[in-house]
Amino acid sequence: MSTMVKAERVCKSYGSVEVLKGIDLEVNSGEVFCIVGPSGSGKSTFLRCINHLEKINAGRLYVDGTLVGYREKGGKLYELRDREVAAQRRDIGMVFQRFNLFPHMTAVENVMEAPVQVKRVPKAEARKRAGELLDRVGLADKRDNYPAQLSGGQQQRVAIARALAMDPKLMLFDEPTSALDPELVGEVLDVMKALAQDGMTMIVVTHEMGFAREVGDSLVFMDGGVVVESGNPRDVLTDPQHERTKLFLSKVL
Ligand SMILES: Nc1ncnc2c1ncn2[C@@H]1O[C@H](COP(=O)(O)OP(=O)(O)O)[C@@H](O)[C@H]1O
Ligand SMILES: [Mg+2]
Repeated sequence: MSTMVKAERVCKSYGSVEVLKGIDLEVNSGEVFCIVGPSGSGKSTFLRCINHLEKINAGRLYVDGTLVGYREKGGKLYELRDREVAAQRRDIGMVFQRFNLFPHMTAVENVMEAPVQVKRVPKAEARKRAGELLDRVGLADKRDNYPAQLSGGQQQRVAIARALAMDPKLMLFDEPTSALDPELVGEVLDVMKALAQDGMTMIVVTHEMGFAREVGDSLVFMDGGVVVESGNPRDVLTDPQHERTKLFLSKVL
């Protein structure tokens, strides 16, 4: 099995505040890798490092065998140019808690925007593909609606389709259902589950332990910028080995 993401002693500080204190982990291709942990533990920061929205201060981070943000030559690291970083980021889809759709564009226009602007895909072709992706997330009938005319769950599904439009090899989800009304959570998780079944490699920061247990292949519990515990989600969730994990789970389960 090939490795999609490899983190080696990844450290990240903001000024004097150390947020990631040496993260080691490995995400296999095709797996659903869940990250759970209390607020402030560094989960979002870690995701942002993976697509180089943040620079790491120490350690190494690889996506699909390639160093993120740097080139290594003769034991030295050289920063990539903006254009090269952008090219790396293009292969990684990201879905946030807030959907961040363009409000003045319809669903289909939101989904076709990046392929047209970034990849120079002809508009007709991008529109056709966007329609197919909206169909895949169950929104074929909403393609001409504006975000304001969609529920939160529908907007989040458009956001997922938009990320998929760039044909990512890796999808990062940062608490994709946290901002949703409870009755809308299921429809988004169902789309993510279908994506997982299609073989997408996914890193999912979530508080949805049911999803982690059912769909997750691996799970790490983070606290205070370190990985406290990791393993099969069912094992970690039912039989946590560390006090901090037990305490956290007692609050969220
Ligand atoms: N841009 C930033 N500047 C300074 N501190 C930050 C910044 N982003 C995050 N932090 C701090 O880093 C810590 C981890 O944040 P975050 O990665 O968002 O945690 P989580 O996603 O697990 O809630 C928090 O203490 C937060 O205040
Ligand atoms: Mg966060």
